[in-house]
Amino acid sequence: MIALPTMLYASEIETLISEQQIAERVRLLGQEIARDYAGRELVLVSVLKGSFLFCADLARAIDLPLAIEFLGLKSYGDSQTTSGVVQITSDLTRPVKDKDLLIVEDIVDTGLTMSYLRKNLATRGPRSVKLCTLLHKPSRARVDTSIDYLGFSIEDVFVVGYGLDWAERYRNLPFIGAVRQTSEAT
Ligand code: IMP
Ligand code: MG
Repeated sequence: MIALPTMLYASEIETLISEQQIAERVRLLGQEIARDYAGRELVLVSVLKGSFLFCADLARAIDLPLAIEFLGLKSYGDSQTTSGVVQITSDLTRPVKDKDLLIVEDIVDTGLTMSYLRKNLATRGPRSVKLCTLLHKPSRARVDTSIDYLGFSIEDVFVVGYGLDWAERYRNLPFIGAVRQTSEAT
């Protein structure tokens, strides 16, 4: 029933960013990254689980030789907010000393997760660490997060789809949708 997600979820999810808008933005981000990293040892660090689709599309939009690593992070909190306490549930498989790391993240909300991850990666001796995030909610920032490549800035709404979940659901939606505040969603 993969062909019907829009209809299946229409009662509770509103489209915020369409599949076409995502594809166009990812294409441009890929071009920008390829220009900036030409001749360097680029390693994409995909933050699981939320960035798996974004990273898969972004990697194909970057016309450069590159490596891809995955890093599992779990941030504690309830289903829609983070506490800032972050645990690495699955680590990189190779050393990243002297590499140019580009963290690929789904969304920067309070910024606490990325602040933790940047510090953690910096201790491993990379040549550089930059951040590419598909989404950013500037109004929710609790710490300064420098974002080097940004897909879209959004309002303070809880979003799902294109890798992002709400209690593990909706990751497979091909678009970014806002969860309507029904009694279940509050
Ligand atoms: P932060 O530490 O508050 O910046 O939040 C980081 C993590 O919380 C993200 O990587 C997401 O996994 C999750 N998150 C924050 N906002 C949303 C949202 O609107 N939808 C789904 N996940 C979210
Ligand atoms: Mg995430």
